Amino acid sequence: MKTIRIAPSILSADFGRLAEEVRAVEAGGADLVHVDVMDGRFVPNLTIGPVVVKAVRAATQLPVDVHLMIAEPERYVESFREAGADLISVHAEACLHLHRAVEQIRASGARASVAVNPATPLSAIEWVLDDLSMVLLMTVNPGFGGQRYIPQVTRKIAALRALLDRRGLDVDLEVDGGVHPATIGAAAAAGANVFVAGSAVFEAPDYRAAIRALRAGAEE
Ligand code: DX5
Ligand code: ZN
Repeated sequence: MKTIRIAPSILSADFGRLAEEVRAVEAGGADLVHVDVMDGRFVPNLTIGPVVVKAVRAATQLPVDVHLMIAEPERYVESFREAGADLISVHAEACLHLHRAVEQIRASGARASVAVNPATPLSAIEWVLDDLSMVLLMTVNPGFGGQRYIPQVTRKIAALRALLDRRGLDVDLEVDGGVHPATIGAAAAAGANVFVAGSAVFEAPDYRAAIRALRAGAEE
């Protein structure tokens, strides 16, 4: 059983007080800080770029987990790495040459991850698994915080963990979208070990208690 890690998504933070919000989740027991980058093309929403990643990097000692929901992510890998990303996820659906994109992330010095949308089959990442630190399974359709966990993905989590075990690969399995104390247990039982939570943390009155509740839900 891999260690449970909680990654609050700053998408639901107060951007007017971003550094303070990042410090608050670090003090509250977060393990990573998740940053959602959206371009208005790959997903129907616009968020932030490398300058904000740089501000997050300056505010925390925690690893910065950058989730690129952008078309042609290869164009920006180095910029996000230079801004301070420790881990970079590109979407399988956004890369024409996924293996090349993964190599590019590794060459930048960041840890490489591939994200897959709920409807994308695991076969899309099967042949790059050996080169990854992490796989990010979307448990909502990407674009917005506060959506509902799609229960069918739980079986996909289990299938991916079984595939990784069969291949003897020590790869983190992150889930993102609709993760709350009520949904996290099923994802953890299926084999996820890194949990992104936006609204479940930043909309709670007490971040430490929210993170503790998520961890308890995952460890049940
Ligand atoms: C969805 C983003 C998520 C989102 C999660 O497109 O990738 O990281 O912020 O938000 P919650 O936890 O509120 O579903
Ligand atoms: Zn995300």
